[in-house]
Amino acid sequence: MRDLFDKIYKDKGPLGKWAAQAEGYFVFPKLEGPISNRMKFRGKDVITWSINDYLGLANNEEVRKVDAAAAAEYGSAYPMGARMMSGHTSLHEQLQTELAAFVKKEAAYLLNFGYQGMVSTVDALVAKDDIIVYDVDAHACIIDGVRLHMGKRFTYKHNDIESIEKNLQRATKLAEQTGGGILLISEGVFGMRGEQGRLKEIVALKEKYNFRLFVDDAHGFGTLGATGAGAGEEQGVQDQIDVYFATFAKSMASTGAFIAADQEIIDYLKYNLRSQMFAKSLQMQLVVGALKRLDMLRTMPELREKLWENVNALQNGLKKRGFDIGTTQSCVTPVYLKGSIPEAMALVKDLRENHGIFCSIVVYPVIPKGLILLRLIPTASHNLQDVEETLDAFSSIRERLENGTYKRLSAGVQASMEA
Ligand SMILES: Cc1ncc(COP(=O)(O)O)c(C=O)c1O
Repeated sequence: MRDLFDKIYKDKGPLGKWAAQAEGYFVFPKLEGPISNRMKFRGKDVITWSINDYLGLANNEEVRKVDAAAAAEYGSAYPMGARMMSGHTSLHEQLQTELAAFVKKEAAYLLNFGYQGMVSTVDALVAKDDIIVYDVDAHACIIDGVRLHMGKRFTYKHNDIESIEKNLQRATKLAEQTGGGILLISEGVFGMRGEQGRLKEIVALKEKYNFRLFVDDAHGFGTLGATGAGAGEEQGVQDQIDVYFATFAKSMASTGAFIAADQEIIDYLKYNLRSQMFAKSLQMQLVVGALKRLDMLRTMPELREKLWENVNALQNGLKKRGFDIGTTQSCVTPVYLKGSIPEAMALVKDLRENHGIFCSIVVYPVIPKGLILLRLIPTASHNLQDVEETLDAFSSIRERLENGTYKRLSAGVQASMEA
């Protein structure tokens, strides 16, 4: 028999093994100063393209004031206990009512964190004889929710309607044997590459197949649709989404999340969501802060307009300069380049040190070998000057990537990886 920790001493995991080369720079970087379009990284000013503060509310003066006043009034303890036991308040209820109205659903229920809430909602919606059909590129919280499911599950090819239909057929056949139902889970916007889930086409399949649709709209909420109600509103099918989820961690620039659905479904979930029944209620300062943010989402469409002005300037500028930005249909802006991991590391160093551009980098195994994905998140707090500087920097790094500069600079790293 071995010591439980033996495997940990030997193998730090697929990401952890890069800690010595990457920590503090590529992973666990420290961005300092107020959250905005320009922050400090290792003492240097950088334009930040890696923060999901879509509407620029994180450092909004009015929002900060409300947060501070709520913290002064309630502290961080209130209310104590789970909602069901002693942590329930009228303000929690008010926020739920306002969120439901905003996303055009009958009712809503608060979640402490999006991740746990998604896991728990998937868990609560299905029984052993039910079947889950979900996107192969689903966010980790969906995958973890599915992991709790005791029954069958089928993945479909990413955002592929043919594959969705094929798997609905398989699921239907199986459900006829088990006597269960089908839950289809999609994202409203896929956060890595920016495509919207094909909600309109999925909803059309309801004519042929009997299933319920659960949508994680973390990136669509507040950014898409005529009123900011998200990807369902944008595609004209919000009323066909059976359970809608969004987090406060992006457009709302806070912590917490919610689900919204018909009253009867929310009434059921309220009594069956283990992540909420057995965890302390969302802190009051977050509830009060969310009410303020939601009011701004509702009454200040100019925030969304500013966001989209920046998104369009950045995405059109990149396209005009010949960059491959894939098939994004949202604010998420991926830029695909070709190169090895060591080249990608040298390129990102150049971007940060010499051009003052801070964006996220994604490489194999998250995307295919030989591809580098730089992911930019425009927000309402950016401006056209930020966009221009970034476009120039991208042209420059592409030239250096193509003329072999990063290959030369990273030869040492390449050799140590091959050793
Ligand atoms: C698609 C998606 N779902 C869920 C979550 C989790 O939300 P939270 O950060 O509130 O836990 C995220 C990340 O924030 C996300 O991108």
